[in-house]
Amino acid sequence: MRPETRAELARRLRHYLDTGTTAMAEAMFPNPVSAYTSEERLALEKRVLFRESPLLVGLSCRVAAPGDYLTDDDSGMPILLLRTAAGTLRAFANVCRHRGARVVDGCGSGKRALSCPYHGWTYGLDGGLVDVPGEEGFAGLSREEHSLRPLPVAEKYGLVWVQPAPAGPEATIDIDAHLGGLAPELASFGFERWHHFETRTLRPRINWKMAVDTFLEAYHLAALHEQSVAPIFVGNLCAADRFGPHHRMIAVRRSFAALPDRGAIGARPSGTSCATRSSSTRSSPTPSSSTRRTTWSCGACSRVSRPTSARSTSPSTSPSPRRPRRRASTGPRTCSSPSMRSTARTSGWGKASSAASAPGRRTT
Ligand code: FES
Ligand SMILES: [Fe+2]
Repeated sequence: MRPETRAELARRLRHYLDTGTTAMAEAMFPNPVSAYTSEERLALEKRVLFRESPLLVGLSCRVAAPGDYLTDDDSGMPILLLRTAAGTLRAFANVCRHRGARVVDGCGSGKRALSCPYHGWTYGLDGGLVDVPGEEGFAGLSREEHSLRPLPVAEKYGLVWVQPAPAGPEATIDIDAHLGGLAPELASFGFERWHHFETRTLRPRINWKMAVDTFLEAYHLAALHEQSVAPIFVGNLCAADRFGPHHRMIAVRRSFAALPDRGAIGARPSGTSCATRSSSTRSSPTPSSSTRRTTWSCGACSRVSRPTSARSTSPSTSPSPRRPRRRASTGPRTCSSPSMRSTARTSGWGKASSAASAPGRRTT
């Protein structure tokens, strides 16, 4: 994260801590149960969010070298990512042009060509059909017209997006436009220098939004995570920002809440972070009195004990007013940030690298 962004967020979060507030939507948004049970809505979401929009399918480091490949089926379209001999990343429908079998499964490296396991049609790393066993039985077959079907792909910031259902054969992805202003922040993480460690796939039988929803609020920390992360993170407090169809939520470590040097916020030297500056307090399950936390009770676990007079201080970032009972909110909400989705698949159907907006959606 860029230092100036981090400093602004730190100031905003510090104000929330000082005043016992958090990011709020304009109003409560009652979300009908049908949003999670309607087959028609699910079909619409699949089409609009997961097939017609750029879908984050992985990290560049997983397909870094010529011959590396990666498959993805979460959108309903079998996707094949392939690094060509020239180093270009290509995406194809992972569907053999003969009888529609999957050309390759999983991921791997060192490929010079891909041979379909059904009848052995073979494709080059550029997707071109290079061998047809018993080709005399296919008189007039155009190899060119039977290359793997290409899909629009974008590789930037160490991440890879594919559009599973492009509008046409010439469609491309303008990923910076799609990111809605989030590109500089993604770039600041330098994901192109990261390495893939592990992929875990969870497939609970739930509507995909049930998984995404919980990563978009800190309201549940005190109750649901009482024995795990609640001692680490401040509950029911977050910063929320929207970037086109994307959303960024920043939760707060209790070690940040315990920082004594409030005047230094914003002047933090580049390269340090909240966690690194205060690592000595981070692992403590019971914050010391210096954290000024007053109670663990549900919905109010993160209240900061401050003199009443201090809570009336107005910040430059004009946060939401204090309310009798705090509700975490993320403002107009969308599906998750791409950076959260690259390797952790939490949906039973697909992963949400991006989504159209769902304005003001909020359950209580
Ligand atoms: S389906 Fe692939 S070679 Fe026949
Ligand atoms: Fe959680």
